[in-house]
Amino acid sequence: MTLSPIPTPTATPPDILRCAYMDIVVTDLAKSREFYVDILGLVVTEESDSEIYLRSFEEFIHHNLVLRQGPIAAVAAMAFRVRSPKDVDLAEAYYQELGCRTERRAEGFVPGIGDSVRVADPLGFPYEFFYATTHVERLAWRYDLQGPGALVRLDHFNQVTPDVGRGRKYLEDLGFRVTEDIQDKDGVTYAAWMRRKDTVHDTALTGGNGPRMHHIAFSTHEKHNIIYICDKLGALRKSDLIERGPGRHGVSNAFYLYLRDPDGHRVEIYTQDYYTGDPDNPVVTWDVHDNQRRDWWGNPVVPSWYTDASLVLDLDGNPQPVIERTESSEMAVTVGADGFSYTRKDDELAGFKLGTTL
Ligand SMILES: [Fe+2]
Repeated sequence: MTLSPIPTPTATPPDILRCAYMDIVVTDLAKSREFYVDILGLVVTEESDSEIYLRSFEEFIHHNLVLRQGPIAAVAAMAFRVRSPKDVDLAEAYYQELGCRTERRAEGFVPGIGDSVRVADPLGFPYEFFYATTHVERLAWRYDLQGPGALVRLDHFNQVTPDVGRGRKYLEDLGFRVTEDIQDKDGVTYAAWMRRKDTVHDTALTGGNGPRMHHIAFSTHEKHNIIYICDKLGALRKSDLIERGPGRHGVSNAFYLYLRDPDGHRVEIYTQDYYTGDPDNPVVTWDVHDNQRRDWWGNPVVPSWYTDASLVLDLDGNPQPVIERTESSEMAVTVGADGFSYTRKDDELAGFKLGTTL
């Protein structure tokens, strides 16, 4: 199936500051609270019997994550903060020109967030744009509250979409800049990292069946904070929540750990990528067969990391249909019998790493 190209609107895109929060549906709020609050230590801004609003220690806006009790585990919104109230108007007009369904609420969709617009974007994702928010206490200096595994910032989202090139062009039109990508010799793009703030990304596109949400990532200050989270999970006999890592990424150069929450929503703990804010920041392109692209130490990527992701909802709360990727799959070309990958560039001629990556 060939997806039609997404036109470039004539309307001015909104000035997006950063990824701000994700609104996710969970099927057992008490279990999710245990994972996000008791184990990971996110800060509760407010909560009720059906919803919990969480933030990271350095955050001053109302929340970075909404946990919402519901029947199907899925993502209700991926929200970006824009520079001014006027940019919410721009976002609404921009998506209306694209022919997307939009819904504007002056009072916001959730507590702590004011005038916002939610859209079913051309890739099928529920994006939200807002400026107005309640300021809450920034707990950056509250070391008496921060544990050794403190999550200090929301860093990025990661989205699964069938045609990365198509999605990349749409996000570039919206004002995102590519910092890194993974390609092959034939020009197939397997993934792309896109930024607004001056880090490697605010969201990334991962090639696969979509629209689905691959993960949400929170930052710690340092690597040792991530090691502590692993030790804590071991001590709690919950090491099975660790899906992949800890390790060092090739792409982004960040230290990472992937966890799965009680519904299978994937959470990355991430730290220490690099500054990307100059206009001529060089784009880094990785070969899909470079065995160090996803793990700098050459450790395997588990198959579930490639195959599993969360459903996303339309503006009525129904799961968006998932469209299959028709281009080559990164898992198929790098894992398993045909999964040739190299550690040194010359290995391409001399032969590939024994045992592939599994
Ligand atoms: Fe990530």
